[in-house]
Amino acid sequence: MSSTFALSFLLSLLLCFTLQPCFFISATGGSWELLQKSVGVSAMHMQLLNNDRVIILDRTDYGPSNLSLPNGECRNDPNDKTLKVDCTAHSVEYDVQSNTFRALMVQTNTWCSSGAVTADGRLIQTGGFNDGEKRIRIFTPCNDGTCDWVEVPNGLAVPRWYACDHILPDGRQIIIGGRKQFSYEFYPKTTAQKLFNLPFLSDTNDPGVENNLYPFVHLNVDGNLFIFANNRAILLDYVNNIVVKTYPVIPGAEARNYPSSGSAVLLPLKNIQAGDVEAEVLICGGGSNGSYTQSLKNIFLPALDTCGRIKITDSDPQWVMETMPQGRVMGDMILLPDGNVLIINGAGAGSAGWEQGREPVLSPVIYRPDNLMGSRFEIQNPTTIPRMYHSTAVLLRDGRVLVGGSNPHAYDTFTGVLFPTELSLEAFSPDYLNTQFDNIRPTIVAPVNQRTLFYGQKQKFRFSCTGPVIQSEVVVMLVAPSFTTHSFSQNQRLLVLGNNRMVVIGNGFYDVEATMPPSPVLAPSGFYLLYVIHQGIPSQAIWIHLQR
Ligand SMILES: *[C@@H]1O[C@H](CO)[C@@H](O)[C@H](O)[C@H]1NC(C)=O
Ligand SMILES: *[C@@H]1O[C@H](CO)[C@@H](O)[C@H](O)[C@H]1NC(C)=O
Repeated sequence: MSSTFALSFLLSLLLCFTLQPCFFISATGGSWELLQKSVGVSAMHMQLLNNDRVIILDRTDYGPSNLSLPNGECRNDPNDKTLKVDCTAHSVEYDVQSNTFRALMVQTNTWCSSGAVTADGRLIQTGGFNDGEKRIRIFTPCNDGTCDWVEVPNGLAVPRWYACDHILPDGRQIIIGGRKQFSYEFYPKTTAQKLFNLPFLSDTNDPGVENNLYPFVHLNVDGNLFIFANNRAILLDYVNNIVVKTYPVIPGAEARNYPSSGSAVLLPLKNIQAGDVEAEVLICGGGSNGSYTQSLKNIFLPALDTCGRIKITDSDPQWVMETMPQGRVMGDMILLPDGNVLIINGAGAGSAGWEQGREPVLSPVIYRPDNLMGSRFEIQNPTTIPRMYHSTAVLLRDGRVLVGGSNPHAYDTFTGVLFPTELSLEAFSPDYLNTQFDNIRPTIVAPVNQRTLFYGQKQKFRFSCTGPVIQSEVVVMLVAPSFTTHSFSQNQRLLVLGNNRMVVIGNGFYDVEATMPPSPVLAPSGFYLLYVIHQGIPSQAIWIHLQR
């Protein structure tokens, strides 16, 4: 047991005597499964597509990967920093259902890049390093193993390394920031102006340590973008390039963005048919002040154990701070289909960066946003594989969370280091997947997967359930699949559609009616995972295609 973990465990015991109910005293929730010992590349970036394939990207400039390209293909890249002729893959397509993978050919360096999925389901991947810094890369999903990356040279106006993307209500994608880029731009480019200044990014750029990279970007319910960088946030009207709101500095004023990598989510959006939807952002963990520079001197400061929660739609928004059971830097925050937040991966000390993290935090934590303060965190069962810098996690259609990556080295390094490069994939199954809940678990039987639905449409979902169903405990939820890298899931979004009414069909079948979101401001057009949840237990999702 590490000293920080021991300390937080003691603290949690102390708290448990004063606060009831107490969840985080026992670490019993969830289970782990090793899916693949090696997929050949380390999962620095991951995106789930609507055919249940996960696109995994590493970077191209660390030499050969552990997976050959098919048919003797090689990439000839005179600009590559390490290998001019490289016959190995740096991207793979992982098929969740068959638990198999195939090599993809990426032409340019995707290191620390960003991405988003368009309304028609294509992954538009942006930027990176060196010859990849201005690239747009497009991946159109296919089921026959023939699709691959198509690249657009000079697709970006300026180099974007450590930027953040978001899909917009009008269907375009915004690309924000990146190293030494205090601006944003769009893809595709539909206006004469190609580049928009964002002084907020230079204002939050600490000299010495650029603690504002990979800004946390969330589409607010009013159509503006909430952008958090370093220790503060703005609400940006990106159309008119006006800052419409400035949020208070997060208490403690420590930086939460790369390399002080904390993580952030937009909490589940509820009552979305009402005119006044509230939106809250939760930011957790990060490297403590000075952790980046200290770790370069082999001093590994304990990671932050605080979360800040703020109602971004409030007229006078204020941060409310909470304490996690453990400190965590480089964690990932994943919205689960039961409306809770999984905090997973990362380290208890140090910083993001090469060899700069220590004390892997092997136990995920579940945060229950609707519980009373003091009883929201619950420690989960640990994995055995440290997931340090360059690790990732994404939600799958069946409710499991796919976990991969971890490569805190400049090159793939498998021996002689504290945290070897990880080529493995694991799945974390939250407790809701436990077979003990099978009798209350809904199974969606209609419509079938891939149904197109329209804004404001009322739709019946037929499900079966072997045990008795409590009608008031049935809700329908939508989850947007995210592009995850560097502890942040770009485009992550969960909407609670609720339950208009339910009809008992008989023989264990039920129809629940839900209304699709009223507008693309609340849910940009595209593919969503739709879950029916009963008593907190989610079904396997179906993909729906939300269209205008
Ligand atoms: C990857 O390849 C290297 C070099 O061939 C080898 O030493 C290493 O064991 C491989 N690692 C895995 C996890 O397959
Ligand atoms: C971080 O540390 C620096 C140097 O010690 C100090 O000047 C600064 O005020 C600290 N910032 C915070 C938010 O504590």
